[in-house]
Amino acid sequence: MNNEPPLAPGPPAELIFGDWYPALRSSELRIAKMTQAMLLGIPLVLGRKRDGRLFAMRDLCPHRGIPLSAGWFDGENVQCKYHGWKFEPCSGQCTEIPSLTQFETLEPGKIYAGAYLCEERDGYAWVYLPEPGSGRSLAQAPPVPELPKFSSRYRSAHLVAALPCNVDHGIIGLMDPAHGPFVHQAWWWRSRASIHEKEKHFEPISQGFRMSSHAPSANSAPYKLLGVYGEPITTTIDFVLPNRRYETIRAGAKWFSSLTTVTPVTPSTCRIDVIAAWNVFYNIPFVTPIARFFGARFVRQDQQTMIEQAQGLRFHPGLMLIDDADKPAKWYFALKQARLKGIEEHPLSGPVTLHWRS
Ligand code: FES
Ligand SMILES: [Fe+2]
Repeated sequence: MNNEPPLAPGPPAELIFGDWYPALRSSELRIAKMTQAMLLGIPLVLGRKRDGRLFAMRDLCPHRGIPLSAGWFDGENVQCKYHGWKFEPCSGQCTEIPSLTQFETLEPGKIYAGAYLCEERDGYAWVYLPEPGSGRSLAQAPPVPELPKFSSRYRSAHLVAALPCNVDHGIIGLMDPAHGPFVHQAWWWRSRASIHEKEKHFEPISQGFRMSSHAPSANSAPYKLLGVYGEPITTTIDFVLPNRRYETIRAGAKWFSSLTTVTPVTPSTCRIDVIAAWNVFYNIPFVTPIARFFGARFVRQDQQTMIEQAQGLRFHPGLMLIDDADKPAKWYFALKQARLKGIEEHPLSGPVTLHWRS
């Protein structure tokens, strides 16, 4: 039995607004049903209109602040439970105020509940969260992030894990090469004894950096699973602000692709989502469950480590970033600061080679 009082949340991180974040699996959004989610500390209510369109509203009635999710959604309008105001959920525009009489001049159509752009991609409902105070100008949103695919037929899988630490720790944990042999040791992956020196090539890309194409690690079983001989294998791993890691492995016509995102749920907690797709072994039926098993185990190992790390972070310890293994983490912090300050500055002025043992 654990009778400890609930622990305070760990240190918060600064958050990047003005970008797309995955809120939840779009299969959870059914017509005439409302589902709550939290992104960047903002309570949301999401749903699917009768025409199939998704919506994401701030889950607060503009009248008196009760969550809209406590009310009703008929597939067209969201109706507040308190005084019955109705809203068109994609625009947030108020369509009806039941208490109004002919003596009132208030025009419901001039009242808006908070509504965000919401798009379905790769089985996720992505929500665009504008800079606070940037008003209703939704036009300048960049394209919705998408998992790259290289053929029309493929299999796919996804997984999710909540992390009790802030988004910065989630992201630098994701790009950290030195934890692999310790956190992810397993007979089918690699052992601690397999640690060896590595040389990796990086180059700057817009809002991030790329680990350039390279021959895959000889000690990594999933690469062997690709089962391609005689074809050169190219791998690229891109990190792109605010939170995205794209990995593609290609050999001839065969490919594997994944998009991992670390999304701030609140300023001090985050969630990791992985979507993967591949056309390798397309005709073997067990590949999807096998891939899900390997991927889930991998993410669980990261999750468990970050749960333990969060216990330490509550005491606000000083932290270190060392060369070269923590260099990508340093680049992340520099890119993030430049983005938050709105300045065009990149920590990499050209290609860089890093060395570490992992
Ligand atoms: S609080 Fe929503 S209608 Fe009054
Ligand atoms: Fe990991």
